[in-house]
Amino acid sequence: MRIEKNIEKEFNVFSKDYTSDMIGCVPHYSKLVSAFTSYLPKNFIPKYILDLGCGNGNVTSKILQLFPESNFTLLDASQEMITLCKARFKTYKVKYVKSYFNDYRFKSDYYNLITAGFSLHHCDSEEKKSLFKRIYKSLKKGGVFSFSDLMVNKNKPEHSKLLKEWEAFVNRNFPDGEKWEWLMEHYNEFDYPDDYTDQMQWLKEAGFTIINLPFKENYWINIQAVKS
Ligand SMILES: C[S@@+](CC[C@H](N)C(=O)[O-])C[C@H]1O[C@@H](n2cnc3c(N)ncnc32)[C@H](O)[C@@H]1O
Repeated sequence: MRIEKNIEKEFNVFSKDYTSDMIGCVPHYSKLVSAFTSYLPKNFIPKYILDLGCGNGNVTSKILQLFPESNFTLLDASQEMITLCKARFKTYKVKYVKSYFNDYRFKSDYYNLITAGFSLHHCDSEEKKSLFKRIYKSLKKGGVFSFSDLMVNKNKPEHSKLLKEWEAFVNRNFPDGEKWEWLMEHYNEFDYPDDYTDQMQWLKEAGFTIINLPFKENYWINIQAVKS
């Protein structure tokens, strides 16, 4: 498997065996997806939900089980991923947007819940800062922004320790070593993870006052921020 030219093409190809690849390549993937529904505030019933970088819909699918009557907007740069979601969520109230985050005009004061599963590490630090501000404006008061991701700075010394543990995990699941080789090509070309402490600070600067880490296993983390 070789990497493609850009995110859109890369994920069009990645979409083929997406869920099994994620389970085999991302430590704690299932728990990090479950985190989107396990730690929501009590009596929280979001009417309008936006899933940023929906992929094949694993995060949306979890949320739909809890809130089948809600109105969903699913955004992704990859047409193949959107096509998979369209087939998966035929009977629900779902709108689709094929767009890069940077090109998307967020509705103001509109969403009750905005989610992003493993999609923000494709944005560099400046893009994340700008996105957090746009997400804050797009949420209604009491709205929740929840995102799960790898959160580590590639330039910090602890990064090499993470890579060793991660490699052992992937090679246990795909022993021929090819998947790890492809993953590292993908990681070097498309992934810009940031430390969770930096991201918490940027969320604060965007206006969020309640910021929690409901799930954290090393650098595999879910952050939940509330617009109070
Ligand atoms: C690793 S997948 C995550 C999919 C799903 N949310 C999950 O948790 O399994 C990342 C998704 O984000 C999309 N994506 C990455 N960067 C993006 C960007 N800048 N704008 C829009 N979509 C993007 C990719 O096309 C891909 O479908």
